[in-house]
Amino acid sequence: MLPLTDRMRTEVAIIGAGPAGLLLSHLLALEGIESVVVETRSREYVESRIRAGILESSTVALLEAAGVGERLRAVGEEHCGIYLQWPGERHHLDFLGLAGRTVWMYGQTELTRDLGRARDAAGQRFYYGVSATAVHDLHSDRPYVTFQAFDGREVRLDADVIAGCDGAHGPSRAAVPVTARQVWERTYPYSWLGILADAAPSTDHLIYAWHPDGFALHSMRSRTVSRLYLQVEPGTDIADWPDDRIWEALATRLGHGQDGWKLITGRITEKSVLPMRSYVMAPMRHGRLFLAGDAAHTVPPTGAKGLNLAAADVALLARALTAMLREHDSRLADAYSDTALRRVWRSTHFSWWMTTMMHSTGDPFDAQLQLTQLDWVANSTAGATGLAENYTGPPSARAEPWSRPDDTPAFGRVALPRLTCSP
Ligand code: FAD
Ligand code: PHB
Repeated sequence: MLPLTDRMRTEVAIIGAGPAGLLLSHLLALEGIESVVVETRSREYVESRIRAGILESSTVALLEAAGVGERLRAVGEEHCGIYLQWPGERHHLDFLGLAGRTVWMYGQTELTRDLGRARDAAGQRFYYGVSATAVHDLHSDRPYVTFQAFDGREVRLDADVIAGCDGAHGPSRAAVPVTARQVWERTYPYSWLGILADAAPSTDHLIYAWHPDGFALHSMRSRTVSRLYLQVEPGTDIADWPDDRIWEALATRLGHGQDGWKLITGRITEKSVLPMRSYVMAPMRHGRLFLAGDAAHTVPPTGAKGLNLAAADVALLARALTAMLREHDSRLADAYSDTALRRVWRSTHFSWWMTTMMHSTGDPFDAQLQLTQLDWVANSTAGATGLAENYTGPPSARAEPWSRPDDTPAFGRVALPRLTCSP
């Protein structure tokens, strides 16, 4: 038995203060449901962790309807397309014309800060810097979480429900017994080297570039900061990639000089290597433990889906927990895993498809297949529309997406306006 010095009670104990945990606590509070959030890292670390950049329009609609979209609208950038490129060719895909929807460029760091401020204003109880987080009694109606607070106190947090929003390496996923879960996974034979640079973006929209040396992606964070990625070997040591080598590889793969296009370089302020993996675990619930976001699934970043899936999960979960805790109606909670997994699998397929199409394997046959597929996607309305629909995500059926009982991919269910976007 732990030497307890603190015991608390809440309605929903949320493990993890990433986007899933913070947004869930916010959506629950809008329904009058109390939660406590526990997080291993410091708040500064969580808020400065450089990760996602692209938000689907339904994620933006959710954030706006939840009252946390103001800064996003003010400083985020709406992108109505991307460029798809391979040596000698660059094609713009017009998402507005093809799918009637756009995406927004807004760093995960900014979103995490917005959510943190909103939770502070509402008096949210947070525990940052905790260790030894563990979940207990998941099959009772009084599950609880134990952890050691940053000052060494042992804490027991009793709850009605536990939300596991603790990412791919947290204790929630691991708490589901192997016999009670099914897992699908794929590890890709490449990684990404990502940089953040004090350099004005050399492009208005993201460039996804296929190249025999490997994939490259030109993204951005603001008018003065670029975010760029290079396909590298798994296990790459960052020390083998001095700044000059990175800029040279980016210039080659992104087509510096092609039709007069120039890659703007600048001071590199952050560098990291990221492994690429697909992972799905089902069900996303075990007793009174509900999993959301990366805790239940991981996608490779090529489709820009991870953060959007986390938001879609917690939108569903907030509604399900509201019905369960306020109306004693557990139907949405019982359907949560199956409903969420439909979208998860759609995004898992799209992320795998983008990854497989864009990354060089070194095999000449693969290269020819990739090039013919890129040519088809860029030059056929059917191919381009498929990419655009998946990249921008299923449309929102209602203004408050977290209230929607049936949040399933609904491509083609709504009439799409024919609009155009000029790059
Ligand atoms: P996380 O952000 O991982 O948060 C989980 C939290 O739980 C963490 O803060 C962690 O410290 C905490 N935690 C872990 N263990 C414990 C414990 N024992 N106790 C308490 N707390 C714990 N997605 C997109 O949609 N678009 C993009 O453009 C995109 N680009 C990406 C680029 C990169 C380089 C990377 C790495 C990811 C990208 N993603 C993108 C994915 C996206 O960042 C993740 O899917 C998203 O962070 C998932 O949010 P989450 O809250 O589920 O998990
Ligand atoms: C990013 O800006 O970090 C980003 C954008 C698109 C992706 C992946 C990452 O597909």
